[in-house]
Amino acid sequence: MCGIVGLFVGCSTHSHCPKKLILDSAAPASEEAEAGTPVVPAPDNSGYNSPFRSWDTRASVRSTERRTLREGDAARPYFSPELVPLARHKYIQDLRPDLYDEVLIQHLYRYLDFTMKLEHLVVNRTALGIAQATVGVAVPEDMRFDAYKVYCDEAYHALFSMDLLRQVRQRTGIEPRLPELPYFLRRLQELQEEAGAENRHLMELVFVIVSETLISGSLMELPQDGDVVPAVREVLRDHALDEGRHHTYFAIFLKYLWGQLGPSERRTAALMVPRLIHTFLRPDTDAMRAELEGYGFAREAARQVVAEVLPETLIRESARSSATQTIRLFSFLGALDLPEVAAEFQDQGLT
Ligand SMILES: [Fe+2]
Ligand SMILES: [Fe+2]
Repeated sequence: MCGIVGLFVGCSTHSHCPKKLILDSAAPASEEAEAGTPVVPAPDNSGYNSPFRSWDTRASVRSTERRTLREGDAARPYFSPELVPLARHKYIQDLRPDLYDEVLIQHLYRYLDFTMKLEHLVVNRTALGIAQATVGVAVPEDMRFDAYKVYCDEAYHALFSMDLLRQVRQRTGIEPRLPELPYFLRRLQELQEEAGAENRHLMELVFVIVSETLISGSLMELPQDGDVVPAVREVLRDHALDEGRHHTYFAIFLKYLWGQLGPSERRTAALMVPRLIHTFLRPDTDAMRAELEGYGFAREAARQVVAEVLPETLIRESARSSATQTIRLFSFLGALDLPEVAAEFQDQGLT
């Protein structure tokens, strides 16, 4: 409802309220560590090579027009069928043409909803924390300034995702069949509960690093498909270009974070990575089953279709190949040197 909602007693967002974090950072020195304010001096700018040097001319929010549906789009698919797991199943291909088209549209809605929630509810909280120096990691001032740009980019990604969703809904008359929370958010909350209050914040930082270094790969495929509605391709291409800069930025941020963690915190953070990779990359199979039940599929048939198009082996293999670069970043810092960390990556099917 408002930017200061977390100041109200009993508010569920209290611990993450941006204003609370900023006010806490102004607490007396003895409380600084607890408030999350960096206790090491900020590194100077000379060691920071900004990936945002051409942001003013290249960022989507600065350089692209609003992406809109056009006349004639009705004959085109709203998502590449090859990238929609449900569309691979014979039962789905045998549906009435209008229902088959809806499966592609619901996949687009799920993707856009995922993006809006990721940007607004997770990534931008970290971007704001870096910008306002409340994140607990000391970074050069230029890097803090770049966090303002990340914040603008992510807000714009959420905006153009909602804009596109509303345009498609208006054009097609198809209402989104969305879960209250997408899988990644439910799973992240679960893992944060398990991690306990002392590691909750660290887990969110690691999740943002993981997601920001994984996301660029997931955005590259669809824009190549010339059949898909142009506005959808353009939105994904705009997003991918911005995320290329974010990938570099968060790889640098990871180095600063790692340099400021003690051995035991590094171990804790490294052990989080494999599960957070799966949290981000795992398809929302619950939402897919619910979608199928919404079309009239019996519960067991819906379960069977989803299990057949997305067997566990495929989900694991796809995560492993998508996560190669992210794993390399952590590996380069020595995060996988501890045998128990290496074993966790292996147990999770990532190495
Ligand atoms: Fe984004
Ligand atoms: Fe991003």
